[in-house]
Amino acid sequence: MAPISLATPHAGSLAASLAQSLRIAERRAADGATAVFRTDVVFGLSQPQKAVPPKYFYDETGSRLFDLICRLPEYYPTRCELEILKTRAAEIGALAGPRASLVEFGSGSSIKVRLLLDAMDKPAAYVPIDISGPHMRAAVARLAEAYPGVAMVPVEADFTQAVRLPPLGEGRRVGFFPGSTIGNFTPQAATAFLAHVGDVLGPGSALVIGFDLAKDHAVLEAAYDDRHGITAAFNLNLLARINREVGADFEPGGFRHRAFFNADESRIEMHLESVRKQEVCIGRHHFAFARGETIHTENSYKFSAAAVLAMVRHAGWRQRVLWTDPKGWFAVAALERDGEGR
Ligand code: TRP
Repeated sequence: MAPISLATPHAGSLAASLAQSLRIAERRAADGATAVFRTDVVFGLSQPQKAVPPKYFYDETGSRLFDLICRLPEYYPTRCELEILKTRAAEIGALAGPRASLVEFGSGSSIKVRLLLDAMDKPAAYVPIDISGPHMRAAVARLAEAYPGVAMVPVEADFTQAVRLPPLGEGRRVGFFPGSTIGNFTPQAATAFLAHVGDVLGPGSALVIGFDLAKDHAVLEAAYDDRHGITAAFNLNLLARINREVGADFEPGGFRHRAFFNADESRIEMHLESVRKQEVCIGRHHFAFARGETIHTENSYKFSAAAVLAMVRHAGWRQRVLWTDPKGWFAVAALERDGEGR
Protein backbone atom coordinates (compact mmCIF):
# COMPACT_ATOMS: atom_id res chain seq x y z
CA MET A 1 0.00 0.00 0.00
CA ALA A 2 1.32 3.42 -0.87
CA PRO A 3 2.21 5.49 2.18
CA ILE A 4 0.06 8.58 2.52
CA SER A 5 2.25 11.61 2.25
CA LEU A 6 1.37 14.84 3.94
CA ALA A 7 1.21 16.46 0.53
CA THR A 8 -1.90 14.51 -0.50
CA PRO A 9 -5.11 16.52 -0.63
CA HIS A 10 -6.60 13.98 1.74
CA ALA A 11 -4.02 14.69 4.46
CA GLY A 12 -4.43 18.39 3.82
CA SER A 13 -8.15 18.33 4.43
CA LEU A 14 -7.63 16.07 7.43
CA ALA A 15 -5.23 18.63 8.91
CA ALA A 16 -7.68 21.41 8.14
CA SER A 17 -10.57 19.62 9.77
CA LEU A 18 -8.41 18.75 12.80
CA ALA A 19 -7.44 22.39 13.11
CA GLN A 20 -11.09 23.34 12.88
CA SER A 21 -12.10 20.85 15.61
CA LEU A 22 -9.33 22.25 17.77
CA ARG A 23 -10.64 25.79 17.25
CA ILE A 24 -14.15 24.62 18.15
CA ALA A 25 -12.83 22.85 21.27
CA GLU A 26 -10.90 25.97 22.31
CA ARG A 27 -13.97 28.09 21.68
CA ARG A 28 -16.10 25.76 23.83
CA ALA A 29 -13.55 25.85 26.64
CA ALA A 30 -13.50 29.66 26.48
CA ASP A 31 -17.32 29.83 26.44
CA GLY A 32 -17.40 27.47 29.43
CA ALA A 33 -14.89 29.62 31.35
CA THR A 34 -16.93 32.76 30.61
CA ALA A 35 -20.13 31.06 31.81
CA VAL A 36 -18.41 30.08 35.08
CA PHE A 37 -17.05 33.63 35.48
CA ARG A 38 -20.54 35.07 34.94
CA THR A 39 -22.08 32.65 37.48
CA ASP A 40 -19.38 33.49 40.05
CA VAL A 41 -19.93 37.22 39.58
CA VAL A 42 -23.76 37.02 39.73
CA PHE A 43 -23.53 34.80 42.83
CA GLY A 44 -20.96 37.08 44.49
CA LEU A 45 -22.94 40.27 43.83
CA SER A 46 -26.09 38.62 45.24
CA GLN A 47 -24.55 38.17 48.71
CA PRO A 48 -25.33 40.59 51.59
CA GLN A 49 -21.63 41.59 51.50
CA LYS A 50 -21.03 41.72 47.76
CA ALA A 51 -17.83 39.97 46.69
CA VAL A 52 -15.96 38.72 43.62
CA PRO A 53 -13.34 35.91 43.87
CA PRO A 54 -9.79 37.32 43.64
CA LYS A 55 -8.63 34.83 41.02
CA TYR A 56 -10.41 36.97 38.42
CA PHE A 57 -7.90 39.79 38.93
CA TYR A 58 -5.44 38.07 36.66
CA ASP A 59 -6.39 38.76 33.07
CA GLU A 60 -3.63 40.17 30.87
CA THR A 61 -3.92 43.73 32.21
CA GLY A 62 -4.27 42.46 35.78
CA SER A 63 -1.17 40.27 35.52
CA ARG A 64 0.82 43.20 34.13
CA LEU A 65 -0.39 45.52 36.91
CA PHE A 66 0.45 42.87 39.49
CA ASP A 67 4.05 42.73 38.22
CA LEU A 68 4.17 46.52 38.68
CA ILE A 69 2.80 46.20 42.24
CA CYS A 70 5.67 43.86 43.13
CA ARG A 71 8.12 46.61 42.14
CA LEU A 72 6.42 49.45 44.06
CA PRO A 73 8.41 51.07 46.86
CA GLU A 74 5.39 50.61 49.17
CA TYR A 75 4.99 46.91 48.38
CA TYR A 76 7.65 45.52 50.73
CA PRO A 77 6.79 41.75 50.72
CA THR A 78 8.59 40.87 47.47
CA ARG A 79 11.82 42.62 48.48
CA CYS A 80 11.78 41.27 52.05
CA GLU A 81 11.21 37.73 50.88
CA LEU A 82 13.96 37.91 48.24
CA GLU A 83 16.35 39.19 50.90
CA ILE A 84 15.51 36.23 53.17
CA LEU A 85 15.85 33.69 50.35
CA LYS A 86 19.22 35.14 49.31
CA THR A 87 20.53 35.13 52.88
CA ARG A 88 19.26 31.60 53.59
CA ALA A 89 19.85 30.02 50.17
CA ALA A 90 22.69 27.78 51.41
CA GLU A 91 20.58 26.55 54.33
CA ILE A 92 17.68 25.79 52.01
CA GLY A 93 20.07 23.94 49.72
CA ALA A 94 21.24 21.82 52.68
CA LEU A 95 17.65 21.13 53.73
CA ALA A 96 16.86 19.89 50.21
CA GLY A 97 19.92 17.65 49.99
CA PRO A 98 21.35 16.15 46.79
CA ARG A 99 19.22 15.47 43.70
CA ALA A 100 16.08 17.01 45.17
CA SER A 101 13.00 17.96 43.15
CA LEU A 102 11.58 21.46 43.58
CA VAL A 103 7.77 21.65 43.31
CA GLU A 104 6.31 25.15 43.06
CA PHE A 105 2.61 25.74 43.80
CA GLY A 106 1.42 28.53 41.49
CA SER A 107 4.62 29.36 39.65
CA GLY A 108 5.21 33.03 39.12
CA SER A 109 8.36 35.10 38.96
CA SER A 110 11.16 32.69 38.17
CA ILE A 111 13.69 34.86 40.05
CA LYS A 112 12.91 33.22 43.37
CA VAL A 113 13.13 29.72 41.86
CA ARG A 114 16.54 30.50 40.38
CA LEU A 115 17.85 31.45 43.80
CA LEU A 116 16.86 28.02 45.13
CA LEU A 117 18.04 26.01 42.11
CA ASP A 118 21.41 27.80 42.30
CA ALA A 119 21.76 26.84 45.96
CA MET A 120 20.69 23.20 45.58
CA ASP A 121 23.11 20.29 45.11
CA LYS A 122 22.44 18.88 41.60
CA PRO A 123 18.68 19.52 41.61
CA ALA A 124 16.96 16.73 39.67
CA ALA A 125 13.72 18.40 38.62
CA TYR A 126 11.67 21.57 38.71
CA VAL A 127 7.91 20.95 38.80
CA PRO A 128 5.81 24.13 38.51
CA ILE A 129 2.08 23.61 39.06
CA ASP A 130 0.04 26.42 37.51
CA ILE A 131 -3.40 26.93 36.06
CA SER A 132 -2.08 29.28 33.36
CA GLY A 133 -0.44 26.84 30.93
CA PRO A 134 0.99 29.20 28.29
CA HIS A 135 2.41 31.63 30.87
CA MET A 136 4.02 28.73 32.75
CA ARG A 137 5.48 27.07 29.65
CA ALA A 138 7.11 30.34 28.54
CA ALA A 139 8.75 30.71 31.97
CA VAL A 140 9.87 27.08 31.94
CA ALA A 141 11.41 27.46 28.48
CA ARG A 142 13.57 30.32 29.80
CA LEU A 143 14.56 28.30 32.88
CA ALA A 144 15.41 25.22 30.80
CA GLU A 145 18.08 27.19 28.96
CA ALA A 146 19.69 28.33 32.19
CA TYR A 147 19.47 24.89 33.88
CA PRO A 148 20.15 22.23 31.25
CA GLY A 149 20.81 19.58 33.94
CA VAL A 150 17.42 20.03 35.63
CA ALA A 151 14.39 18.12 34.27
CA MET A 152 11.59 20.65 33.67
CA VAL A 153 8.22 19.02 34.43
CA PRO A 154 5.39 21.58 34.22
CA VAL A 155 1.98 20.44 35.49
CA GLU A 156 -0.96 22.48 34.17
CA ALA A 157 -3.48 22.37 37.03
CA ASP A 158 -5.24 24.42 39.69
CA PHE A 159 -2.80 24.01 42.56
CA THR A 160 -5.57 23.95 45.15
CA GLN A 161 -7.04 20.82 43.54
CA ALA A 162 -5.79 17.25 43.75
CA VAL A 163 -2.74 16.78 41.57
CA ARG A 164 -0.62 13.69 41.14
CA LEU A 165 3.08 14.40 40.80
CA PRO A 166 4.92 12.73 37.93
CA PRO A 167 7.54 10.15 38.97
CA LEU A 168 10.53 12.08 40.32
CA GLY A 169 14.07 11.07 41.26
CA GLU A 170 15.46 9.64 44.47
CA GLY A 171 16.10 13.02 46.11
CA ARG A 172 13.86 14.89 48.50
CA ARG A 173 10.70 16.59 47.32
CA VAL A 174 10.80 20.23 48.29
CA GLY A 175 7.67 22.33 47.92
CA PHE A 176 7.92 26.09 47.34
CA PHE A 177 5.05 28.51 48.02
CA PRO A 178 6.38 32.08 48.13
CA GLY A 179 4.71 35.50 48.04
CA SER A 180 2.44 35.03 51.05
CA THR A 181 -0.25 33.70 48.73
CA ILE A 182 -1.17 31.57 51.76
CA GLY A 183 -2.45 34.87 53.25
CA ASN A 184 -5.12 35.12 50.55
CA PHE A 185 -6.89 32.03 51.96
CA THR A 186 -9.06 32.19 55.08
CA PRO A 187 -7.16 30.62 58.03
CA GLN A 188 -9.30 27.49 57.78
CA ALA A 189 -8.73 27.12 54.04
CA ALA A 190 -5.01 27.88 54.50
CA THR A 191 -4.66 25.02 57.00
CA ALA A 192 -6.51 22.65 54.70
CA PHE A 193 -4.33 23.74 51.79
CA LEU A 194 -1.11 23.10 53.74
CA ALA A 195 -2.33 19.61 54.63
CA HIS A 196 -3.15 19.05 50.95
CA VAL A 197 0.38 20.15 49.96
CA GLY A 198 1.73 17.61 52.44
CA ASP A 199 -0.33 14.87 50.78
CA VAL A 200 0.85 15.88 47.31
CA LEU A 201 4.55 15.99 48.29
CA GLY A 202 4.38 12.87 50.44
CA PRO A 203 6.24 11.59 53.53
CA GLY A 204 9.70 12.99 54.23
CA SER A 205 9.21 16.06 52.03
CA ALA A 206 10.01 19.67 52.87
CA LEU A 207 8.20 22.95 52.22
CA VAL A 208 9.59 26.48 51.92
CA ILE A 209 6.77 28.99 52.35
CA GLY A 210 6.38 32.76 52.76
CA PHE A 211 4.18 34.49 55.35
CA ASP A 212 3.61 38.22 55.65
CA LEU A 213 3.80 39.36 59.28
CA ALA A 214 1.56 41.74 61.21
CA LYS A 215 3.11 45.20 61.54
CA ASP A 216 2.42 48.91 61.73
CA HIS A 217 -0.98 49.55 60.13
CA ALA A 218 0.25 52.52 58.09
CA VAL A 219 2.96 50.35 56.48
CA LEU A 220 0.41 47.64 55.70
CA GLU A 221 -2.17 50.01 54.28
CA ALA A 222 0.36 51.83 52.07
CA ALA A 223 1.42 48.46 50.58
CA TYR A 224 -2.15 47.95 49.36
CA ASP A 225 -2.89 51.57 48.44
CA ASP A 226 0.18 53.03 46.81
CA ARG A 227 0.81 56.68 45.98
CA HIS A 228 0.78 56.10 42.24
CA GLY A 229 -2.57 54.30 42.23
CA ILE A 230 -1.25 51.08 40.70
CA THR A 231 -3.02 48.90 43.29
CA ALA A 232 -6.18 50.96 42.76
CA ALA A 233 -5.92 50.35 39.00
CA PHE A 234 -5.36 46.64 39.69
CA ASN A 235 -8.49 46.43 41.86
CA LEU A 236 -10.64 48.54 39.47
CA ASN A 237 -9.50 46.49 36.47
CA LEU A 238 -11.75 43.74 37.81
CA LEU A 239 -14.82 45.84 36.91
CA ALA A 240 -13.49 46.53 33.41
CA ARG A 241 -12.96 42.80 32.97
CA ILE A 242 -16.48 41.99 34.21
CA ASN A 243 -17.92 44.55 31.80
CA ARG A 244 -15.96 43.15 28.87
CA GLU A 245 -16.33 39.43 29.52
CA VAL A 246 -19.79 39.06 31.05
CA GLY A 247 -21.43 42.22 29.67
CA ALA A 248 -22.03 44.14 32.91
CA ASP A 249 -22.49 47.92 32.84
CA PHE A 250 -20.26 49.15 35.68
CA GLU A 251 -19.51 52.82 35.12
CA PRO A 252 -15.78 53.55 35.21
CA GLY A 253 -16.02 56.41 37.72
CA GLY A 254 -18.70 54.77 39.86
CA PHE A 255 -16.36 52.91 42.20
CA ARG A 256 -13.16 53.61 44.08
CA HIS A 257 -10.41 51.46 45.55
CA ARG A 258 -10.42 50.94 49.31
CA ALA A 259 -7.81 49.01 51.33
CA PHE A 260 -7.70 48.89 55.11
CA PHE A 261 -6.39 46.74 57.92
CA ASN A 262 -9.07 44.79 59.79
CA ALA A 263 -7.37 44.30 63.17
CA ASP A 264 -9.97 41.83 64.52
CA GLU A 265 -9.27 39.46 61.63
CA SER A 266 -5.60 40.49 61.23
CA ARG A 267 -6.04 41.03 57.53
CA ILE A 268 -5.86 43.68 54.86
CA GLU A 269 -9.16 43.89 53.04
CA MET A 270 -9.51 45.23 49.53
CA HIS A 271 -12.87 46.55 48.43
CA LEU A 272 -14.42 48.49 45.56
CA GLU A 273 -16.64 51.20 47.03
CA SER A 274 -19.64 52.68 45.27
CA VAL A 275 -19.26 56.47 45.20
CA ARG A 276 -23.02 56.97 44.82
CA LYS A 277 -26.35 55.16 44.95
CA GLN A 278 -26.54 53.23 41.69
CA GLU A 279 -27.69 50.09 39.92
CA VAL A 280 -25.56 47.71 37.88
CA CYS A 281 -26.98 45.14 35.45
CA ILE A 282 -25.78 41.83 34.09
CA GLY A 283 -28.42 40.64 31.65
CA ARG A 284 -31.64 40.27 33.64
CA HIS A 285 -29.84 40.57 36.99
CA HIS A 286 -29.94 43.98 38.68
CA PHE A 287 -27.71 44.87 41.61
CA ALA A 288 -28.49 47.89 43.76
CA PHE A 289 -25.62 49.72 45.45
CA ALA A 290 -26.06 52.20 48.27
CA ARG A 291 -23.55 55.03 48.40
CA GLY A 292 -20.49 53.68 50.25
CA GLU A 293 -21.50 50.04 49.77
CA THR A 294 -18.60 47.82 48.75
CA ILE A 295 -17.63 44.75 46.76
CA HIS A 296 -15.10 42.76 48.78
CA THR A 297 -12.36 41.66 46.37
CA GLU A 298 -9.53 40.24 48.48
CA ASN A 299 -8.15 39.44 51.92
CA SER A 300 -4.46 39.32 52.77
CA TYR A 301 -3.93 37.85 56.22
CA LYS A 302 -0.98 39.03 58.32
CA PHE A 303 0.53 36.51 60.72
CA SER A 304 2.40 36.37 64.00
CA ALA A 305 5.23 33.84 64.39
CA ALA A 306 3.01 31.98 66.88
CA ALA A 307 0.12 31.85 64.42
CA VAL A 308 2.39 30.41 61.71
CA LEU A 309 3.65 27.70 64.06
CA ALA A 310 0.13 26.76 65.17
CA MET A 311 -1.19 26.63 61.62
CA VAL A 312 1.59 24.50 60.14
CA ARG A 313 1.42 22.04 63.06
CA HIS A 314 -2.29 21.73 62.61
CA ALA A 315 -1.68 20.87 58.96
CA GLY A 316 0.75 18.07 59.88
CA TRP A 317 4.05 19.87 59.26
CA ARG A 318 7.06 20.22 61.57
CA GLN A 319 8.59 23.70 61.54
CA ARG A 320 12.39 23.42 61.26
CA VAL A 321 12.96 27.17 61.27
CA LEU A 322 11.25 30.50 60.66
CA TRP A 323 13.51 33.11 59.09
CA THR A 324 12.64 36.82 59.04
CA ASP A 325 14.21 39.85 57.38
CA PRO A 326 16.09 42.34 59.61
CA LYS A 327 12.98 44.55 59.99
CA GLY A 328 10.87 41.54 61.00
CA TRP A 329 8.28 42.33 58.33
CA PHE A 330 8.18 39.03 56.45
CA ALA A 331 8.89 35.39 57.30
CA VAL A 332 9.96 32.31 55.35
CA ALA A 333 9.31 29.00 57.07
CA ALA A 334 11.17 25.75 56.36
CA LEU A 335 8.85 22.83 57.12
CA GLU A 336 9.27 19.09 57.11
CA ARG A 337 6.96 16.14 56.90
CA ASP A 338 7.63 13.02 58.96
CA GLY A 339 8.24 9.68 57.38
CA GLU A 340 10.54 7.84 55.01
CA GLY A 341 10.52 9.91 51.90
CA ARG A 342 12.29 10.11 48.64
N1 TRP B 1 -0.54 37.45 48.09
C1 TRP B 1 0.10 38.74 48.07
C2 TRP B 1 -0.50 39.64 49.12
O1 TRP B 1 -1.57 39.42 49.58
C3 TRP B 1 0.06 39.37 46.72
C4 TRP B 1 -1.26 39.94 46.28
C5 TRP B 1 -2.34 39.26 45.92
C6 TRP B 1 -1.58 41.32 46.19
N2 TRP B 1 -3.31 40.17 45.53
C7 TRP B 1 -2.88 41.41 45.70
C8 TRP B 1 -0.88 42.48 46.43
C9 TRP B 1 -3.51 42.64 45.50
C10 TRP B 1 -1.49 43.71 46.22
C11 TRP B 1 -2.78 43.77 45.79
O2 TRP B 1 0.15 40.59 49.50
